[in-house]
Amino acid sequence: MAKAVLGVVGGSGVYDLPGIEDVREVPIDSPWGEPSDVLRMGRVGGTEVAFLPRHGRGHRLSPSDINYRANIDVMKRAGVTDLISVSACGSFRQEYHPGFFVLVDQYVDRTHKRENSFFGRGCVAHVPMAHPVGPLLQRRIARAAAAEHIPHASGGTLVCIEGPQFSTYAESITYKELGYDVIGMTAMPEAKLAREAEITYATIAMVTDYDCWHPEHDDVDVAAVVAVARQNAAKVAGLIARIARDFPVEHEPCPVGSDRALDGAIMTAPAA
Ligand code: ADE
Repeated sequence: MAKAVLGVVGGSGVYDLPGIEDVREVPIDSPWGEPSDVLRMGRVGGTEVAFLPRHGRGHRLSPSDINYRANIDVMKRAGVTDLISVSACGSFRQEYHPGFFVLVDQYVDRTHKRENSFFGRGCVAHVPMAHPVGPLLQRRIARAAAAEHIPHASGGTLVCIEGPQFSTYAESITYKELGYDVIGMTAMPEAKLAREAEITYATIAMVTDYDCWHPEHDDVDVAAVVAVARQNAAKVAGLIARIARDFPVEHEPCPVGSDRALDGAIMTAPAA
């Protein structure tokens, strides 16, 4: 099996990873265009960690403008085997309060204007997406969150909207009634592209607000998201450092096949 390299994509409020040592900037060209920022690589113990702020330093990129393909591609070229995606999100559950982390294992994709595949145009592939999160990676995050005393839940469904506007009240109560747990704007197509790149993927959804369904809480706005995301940044850094410290040297074969997703996925006949 391949040497494990841990990738981290930081969301709103997470533009840096203070726990990483020997950080160096690694410019990597991608045929898919410009990634959100230069990849920074470093170490925690014996584990190599690659970090990319999804919106770029200075939060320059809106969710629809992020080049998700380039981001995943540079992670792949850097040798990343396991990718943790950190995202601010709204909550549809009373008990998932701001500051709570949800380790979701399902996504509903409501985005509609993003490039969502490396395939097409001459090479057709359909990767399995039934189980989009690597359960072993998710379990490692859960164990580390417990050790760091971070309130969290394992499992849940994140609905990813196009944005950049937040949801209407009707949308918010509909998502809640459908049983979705949290809402964000960036997990898709990131999770799909990670699967196509055979990178094991998991999300840490950091609750920043109750969207706009909750009768006793203000409707979400940027100030609320930024305030909670900032408070969470140190928790995220501690959590990632702990995960990295305890990470295996070799990538663990994924029980849901995320690291071999292209086996049998390509439909186009090989050129004769
Ligand atoms: N990110 C943080 N909070 C959000 C919300 N309520 N809706 C969509 N994206 C979010």
